[in-house]
Amino acid sequence: MIPLLDLKKQIAPLRQDIDAAIKKVIDNNNFVLGKEVADFENAAARYCRVKYAIGVANGTDAIKLALVALGIKCGDGVICPSFTYFATAGAIASIGALPVFADIDPETYNISAKSIESILKKKKKHNIKAIVPVHLYGQCADMDAILKLAKTHKLKVIEDAAQAFGAEYRGRKAGTIADCGSISFYPGKNLGAFGDAGMVLTNKKSINEEIRILRNQGNKEQYFHTVLGYNSRLDTLQAAVLNVKLSYLDAWNKKRQENARYLSGQLKNLKIKTPYVAEYSTHIYHQYVLRLGSPAKKLIEHLKNKGIDARVYYPVSLHLQKCFKYLGYKKGDFPESESAASHILAIPVYPDLARDEMDYIVKSIKEFLL
Ligand SMILES: Cc1ncc(COP(=O)(O)O)c(C=O)c1O
Repeated sequence: MIPLLDLKKQIAPLRQDIDAAIKKVIDNNNFVLGKEVADFENAAARYCRVKYAIGVANGTDAIKLALVALGIKCGDGVICPSFTYFATAGAIASIGALPVFADIDPETYNISAKSIESILKKKKKHNIKAIVPVHLYGQCADMDAILKLAKTHKLKVIEDAAQAFGAEYRGRKAGTIADCGSISFYPGKNLGAFGDAGMVLTNKKSINEEIRILRNQGNKEQYFHTVLGYNSRLDTLQAAVLNVKLSYLDAWNKKRQENARYLSGQLKNLKIKTPYVAEYSTHIYHQYVLRLGSPAKKLIEHLKNKGIDARVYYPVSLHLQKCFKYLGYKKGDFPESESAASHILAIPVYPDLARDEMDYIVKSIKEFLL
């Protein structure tokens, strides 16, 4: 089977360094907010050329804490794409705010600025206070257009950069362009921990201070709780692993880009659409996503039969998920999102994918199409 990601291959050459880093944490008994957390925060801030990087428990909490720090409250409306992982809208709903869904751009699969604009014209009743664009699959959303709308309507913006750590928007790192950026280091991400981990990026001092308090039970000083906070600290063991892996990230992302270029070259002039890269962003191919003119189900089945893992990220648009029924959306509300959910598929692109494996994937796709 050619999997969508092979972490064993990635970890093997780093194993000694990772084992030593984990041993150090155990030897020092420094499990909660240990030195490794601050070290990783500093390294990540340097890497992203951003003033502040705050380690939190996971990427979902990174969005949630950023929303709270920016003053979003129960009942406020927050615009996000209907085509993204559940956690984007889940984080919004978790603080009692209302996800207000927008459609996507059919080329990039990212939130459409036009769709946001039409929502802002129509939905005054929603008391919209923020936008959470997602840099889906590792490519940045159209941030200039989104920030312009946010400025006009006085909205906060949080970039959900869970899938795009290391990608760049007009020369700036994903997650550092708006008020805040949220990152996930879920094991399958381009930079993945050995469990759950996340981060908030910001250039604003007050937000940095607020998030540090919020992630640690609302403590500014131990046992003096100034606000209602959460237990959402980045685990020291995860920070130790991430410290080792961070220096490899650019090389891994480059390899993903090379693989994507090769796959796109081989799949040219066929009845299948290869990923589109907008001029304003780099793409770090967290996922390499193809689009068919018909439902992708059969091709996925065909590839599975050939021993190749292929999947749809994400098969059900969020406005049609049962858990969001209370928001009152219906089928047909976001045609581009719904169309993407049935016509796309992600195929392997991970850094250690071998050339002959890519050739086999291409051959198998051609067999289906021709
Ligand atoms: C777009 C997006 N947002 C948010 C998250 C949530 O991150 P986590 O799983 O670390 O909570 C993820 C990752 O799973 C994601 O892909």
